[in-house]
Amino acid sequence: MTALSLTLDIAADWSKIDPTREAVGLLVLALFGDDDLRDALAMVSEELLENAIKYSLPASSVALAIEHRGDGVDIAVTNAVDEGAVHLADLRARIAWVRSFATPSEAYAAALARVYAQAGDGRSGLGIARIAYEGRCGLECDESVPGRVTVTARCPRAAFGD
Ligand SMILES: Nc1ncnc2c1ncn2[C@@H]1O[C@H](COP(=O)(O)OP(=O)(O)O)[C@@H](O)[C@H]1O
Ligand SMILES: [Mg+2]
Repeated sequence: MTALSLTLDIAADWSKIDPTREAVGLLVLALFGDDDLRDALAMVSEELLENAIKYSLPASSVALAIEHRGDGVDIAVTNAVDEGAVHLADLRARIAWVRSFATPSEAYAAALARVYAQAGDGRSGLGIARIAYEGRCGLECDESVPGRVTVTARCPRAAFGD
């Protein structure tokens, strides 16, 4: 039985994204020896971290936790949020929207179509859909701690064969 449970607390800074994405990829490769799973979870870490840094309060830190749960791997990223801003509601709505499609691939196609139809405001709305489709992950967001949000991407190992 392989085990992995690790939490990193890092500054909410763009320069942290690349090394953290690579570190997650290497941990996953060491544990499972699966290149597709490594690429998927590295990408998921990057998307979650990018959001955590982009939508968190300035000068805060973010936490990335990775855990092997027997039937899958969870990647959970926590950041400080301004509860008065639009982002928490948008995040919740985005996760529900992706879930409302029969398959993640339909959700991703619809998200792409929206990008082309809309004028950009720097928020493409693709990240969450990409995690669900390319990363084959289920998504949850936890707002139980005031002023903080945790987004968890749960990747079932079965999604990537052996
Ligand atoms: N960690 C987070 N904290 C606060 N709001 C978030 C977070 N992640 C996502 N959001 C909100 O959800 C929206 C959708 O995120 P995403 O699908 O990654 O698209 P994008 O980042 O391109 O807008 C964001 O625009 C933002 O409003
Ligand atoms: Mg994003």
